[in-house]
Amino acid sequence: MTEVEQAPPGVDSTTPTPARLYDYYLGGSNNFAVDREVAERLRTSLPELTDAAWANRGFHQRAARWMAAEHGIRQFIDLGSGLPTQGNTHEAVSQVAIDARVVYVDHDPMVIAHAMALLSSANATTVIQADLRDPAAVLGHPELRSLIDCSQPAGLLMTAVLHFVADESDPWGLVARYISELAPGSYVALSHATADRLPPRAVQAMYDTYSRATEKIYLRSKAEFERMFNGLELVTPFGGADPGVTFVGKWGAEDPSAADSDGSRVLYSGVARRP
Ligand SMILES: C[S@@+](CC[C@H](N)C(=O)[O-])C[C@H]1O[C@@H](n2cnc3c(N)ncnc32)[C@H](O)[C@@H]1O
Repeated sequence: MTEVEQAPPGVDSTTPTPARLYDYYLGGSNNFAVDREVAERLRTSLPELTDAAWANRGFHQRAARWMAAEHGIRQFIDLGSGLPTQGNTHEAVSQVAIDARVVYVDHDPMVIAHAMALLSSANATTVIQADLRDPAAVLGHPELRSLIDCSQPAGLLMTAVLHFVADESDPWGLVARYISELAPGSYVALSHATADRLPPRAVQAMYDTYSRATEKIYLRSKAEFERMFNGLELVTPFGGADPGVTFVGKWGAEDPSAADSDGSRVLYSGVARRP
């Protein structure tokens, strides 16, 4: 069977997508030749690609588990959830909270097709196809409303997704809008790609890769990332640190200096509480 035949209905297998590229970086098999080709070209300028993807995925899992274990969060909204992979949010959280509810949201039809197949066996999880740039559609979705009680604290996860949102779509305002709909005591985890520690060749390769994909990428500085937490209380990212943002590998790491790899420095991360 060819890859075109394997593509779920509505999926274009000829243009790379952020979800399938990321799946390939993580070593997954839910990707097509066109994704692998541009990813391998990117890897020649950014050899730490796989390390960066795993550092981000680890942050996502640690942040969700931390919200459940340390703050009793039992309901999660995972915006830009990506293709199912090892340690999906409901699996990571179930290690500490078997009763947690998770709403996955993504706009990529391939993500929805694969997530639905995986989640058919999981209780208290659902997947919604929606564009996070339309918060009214996401927050008003009946399936989200049936699983998330907005009068109780929730965990909002927006990891490795806001760098696909252009300034004109106001990623800062979107974070503020989503968290404002959740109860005080809710937490938000964000990660975001940055050019701050990358050589110009790698930065250009990132822009070139995603200019060929369904979504462009927008690398942002530390100050621009920190602004996404305006009005929120950033937590301490690791033992001995002040509250604030850090590179993805270091957040929640037992040994932050060992986790401070080149790949980790491709993305910033932070977790904050809604007061
Ligand atoms: C790099 S993956 C990140 C997956 C996961 N959040 C993680 O950090 O492991 C980015 C995901 O965001 C999704 N995405 C990008 N822009 C989006 C948008 N405007 N609305 C919903 N999902 C979006 C992509 O389809 C992709 O699945």
